[in-house]
Amino acid sequence: MLNIGRLKLDVPFYQAPLSGYTDRGMRRLARRFGCPLTFTGVLLDKIALNAKAIKKLHFQPCEDEHPVGAQILGEDPKTMSRSAAMFQSVGFDAIDLNFACPAPKVLRRGRGGALLNTPSTIIETLERVKEAVTIPILMKLRIGWDESSESKDLFWEICERAAALEPDAVGIHGRTVSKKYRGKADWNTIAQVKHRFPSITVIGSGDLMTAKNIAERIGSGDVDGVMIARGAIGNPWIFHEARALLEGQPTPPAPSVDQVGRLMLEHIEMILAMYPPRKAVPFFRKFAVHYCKRHPQRKKALLDILAAKSPERLRSTVSQWFSV
Ligand SMILES: Cc1cc2nc3c(=O)[nH]c(=O)nc-3n(C[C@H](O)[C@H](O)[C@H](O)COP(=O)(O)O)c2cc1C
Repeated sequence: MLNIGRLKLDVPFYQAPLSGYTDRGMRRLARRFGCPLTFTGVLLDKIALNAKAIKKLHFQPCEDEHPVGAQILGEDPKTMSRSAAMFQSVGFDAIDLNFACPAPKVLRRGRGGALLNTPSTIIETLERVKEAVTIPILMKLRIGWDESSESKDLFWEICERAAALEPDAVGIHGRTVSKKYRGKADWNTIAQVKHRFPSITVIGSGDLMTAKNIAERIGSGDVDGVMIARGAIGNPWIFHEARALLEGQPTPPAPSVDQVGRLMLEHIEMILAMYPPRKAVPFFRKFAVHYCKRHPQRKKALLDILAAKSPERLRSTVSQWFSV
């Protein structure tokens, strides 16, 4: 239902890259709940060129999570292409080029969304990465730097020149870089890309918080697929629900409180396998905020979980509140 080069996905959605979230644990849970493809959060290209760093668990796909893509960020097309080749060699199944990140420290260095102002660098990066790898290549764009007509022109120039190079897919977050995450995503511009460049496999992104949102965007016929971002944080069930909706099946029942608790405990163990306890506990808090939305006493449960300072305390607090 969605082909990204040689990757054949049986549903037209995947897990979006989310820096600080889509590490191994979240990716594996997404796969288990029916998501056909996931991505790392954005990785600085240079990391892959450091022989010691690339061996770390973080930069290696895990056996049971394929297909999984690596998303890379940089400002120099040559370094980006060497990095892409390295991520291919350690076993990633796709490369996504980040031309979208709005973080000030990224923009200051002329990376991510800043590159939307220099189409030639984006195009040279795509050309070089195409020469360097055989796995599918995606690129992630925002709909321009800002709302100005100059930015819009540059965005359309990027789409036109990229289409000629046939990337395997172009992911588009329907906000400008200067909008960051404010306001509503502009899906009209995303649809226009598909209509103006039908040969591009367009993957839309923005405000997909429920299975219904996902099915509606896919059903519009204006995109080839969508990527699910914030809607999947602490909510892998969204993939199950979206799949059921798209396949015309009844909506799966919402998980019971104890099912949520069991998944939380499992997620905690996955995080502990990746990080030392002093990092793992705060890392899990970001997910707990969302998991706790499914608890009838959401606020109280969350406050207690956020107060846990050790893995033991975290486990026992989750067990107590979620009756597992
Ligand atoms: C916390 C956070 C981290 C993100 N990290 C990345 C990233 O590493 N790479 C990327 O291309 N997009 C990143 N995004 C953007 C998302 O992939 C997505 O395009 C955006 O959130 C819009 O989708 P949503 O409104 O459904 O969340 C991030 C977004 C958030 C909120």
